[in-house]
Amino acid sequence: MAAEPVNVTEFQELARQALPKMYYDYYAGGAEDQYTLKENVEAFHRINILPRVLVDVSKIDISTSILGYRTSAPLMIAPTGGHKLAHPEGEVATARAAAACDTIMAVSFSSSRPLEEVASSCNAIRFFQLYVYKRRDITALLVRRAERSGFKAVILTADTPRLGRREADIKNKMIAPPVRNFDGLISTDVVTDKGSKLAAYASAMLDASVCWKDITWLKSITNLPILIKGVLTPEDAIKALEVGVSGIIVSNHGARQLDYSPATISVLEEVVEAVQGKIPVLLDGGVRRGTDIFKALALGAQAVMIGRPVLFGLAAKGEYGVKRVINMLKEELELSMALAGTCTVKDITRGHVRTQHDRLLCKI
Ligand code: FNR
Repeated sequence: MAAEPVNVTEFQELARQALPKMYYDYYAGGAEDQYTLKENVEAFHRINILPRVLVDVSKIDISTSILGYRTSAPLMIAPTGGHKLAHPEGEVATARAAAACDTIMAVSFSSSRPLEEVASSCNAIRFFQLYVYKRRDITALLVRRAERSGFKAVILTADTPRLGRREADIKNKMIAPPVRNFDGLISTDVVTDKGSKLAAYASAMLDASVCWKDITWLKSITNLPILIKGVLTPEDAIKALEVGVSGIIVSNHGARQLDYSPATISVLEEVVEAVQGKIPVLLDGGVRRGTDIFKALALGAQAVMIGRPVLFGLAAKGEYGVKRVINMLKEELELSMALAGTCTVKDITRGHVRTQHDRLLCKI
C-alpha cells in the first residue's frame, strides 16, 4: 500500500508510480521548455502572507459562493480530459468526490465518460467546458445536452486555437483518449483511439478562426452563464466584459499552450482591476497549497480551480484520492486563514499579501 501523502504535491509521485509513463507525462507535462509550468507554481512562492495577530479566530468559515452557488470552499475542479486514463471509473469517480466535498466540478468536453453519465452519477454542481468547434452544430448540441443534464454554466476555453507543443506527448506518440461526448457525432477517423495524435485530432476539431464575435453567437444559443477561460491580460478582460460574459477565468491552460505566457497569479491583479468587480474572476494554474488559495483571494479572485492535483489524486487512489486532495487544500486554507487572522473569505484583503511588485515599490 502506498504511503499516505501529507500534501497535495506528494500525490504527484504516487501518480507517477501508478500510471504508464505515457499517461503520466500527458498529465504532468507542459508546453515546450515548460518555463510557464514551473512559473505557475514558483510565482506563488514569491508572494508573502502578512498575518494579523490577536484576532478572534476561534471560528473559521471557508465557505463561499461561485456564480451564486454556495460551495464549501473557494475551490473548484478545473476541466481536464480523459480521467479514465487515471482510473477506470474516470470522471464519475471525480464527480462523486466533488459531491462528497461540496465542491463544484467543471467537466471537460473531452471527458472519457459522456456528460450525461457524469451528471447522473452525483449531485455536485457542475459547469461544462467546451470549445467552439469547426462544426457549430456540434458545439450547439453539446450546449443543449449540458443544459438538459443540469449543468449550471458553460466555460468557453479561449486559449486553444491550436494545441500547444507538448514535447513529451510527441516523443511518447501519445494517442488522443476517446472523447465520449462525440460518440455518434463525428466519424471515428477523426476522433480515434487507434493512432491519431493529439495535435492532429485538435486541428481537425478546433476552429482557429473563433473570435470575440462568436461569443455573441454562443450567448444566443444558451441562457446558461458563460465564463471565458484563458484570459491573461486586462485588454482581454475588458473585451470579455464588453461581450457580456458572466465570469473570467485567469488561466494559461496549466502551461500546456503558450510557453512563456505569465504565471497566472502574476497577472491576476491587473485583470481584477480591469474588471472592476463587474463579474467574478477565477484563477487556475499552479495551485498546490491552501496558502496559494489565500494569495489568489487576496489578489481579487473569487475562487481557484485545480487541474493536475485532481488527476494525480485520482490516479493514486481513485475517488478517495480526489477527496483527499480537495480536503487537504481546504484544511490548509482553513489553517492559513486562522493563522493570518481572517475568519471568513471576505476578511481576506489585498493588505494580507505582499507581492514582488510591492517589494520593488517599497524600495523606491
Ligand atoms: C487540462 N486543461 C484543460 N482545460 C480545458 O479547458 N479543457 C480541457 O479539456 C483540458 N484538459 C486538460 C488535461 C490535462 C491533463 C491538464 C493537466 C490540463 C487545463 C485545466 O483546465 C487547467 O487550466 C489547468 O490544469 C490548471 O493548472 P494546474 O492546476 O494543473 O496547475
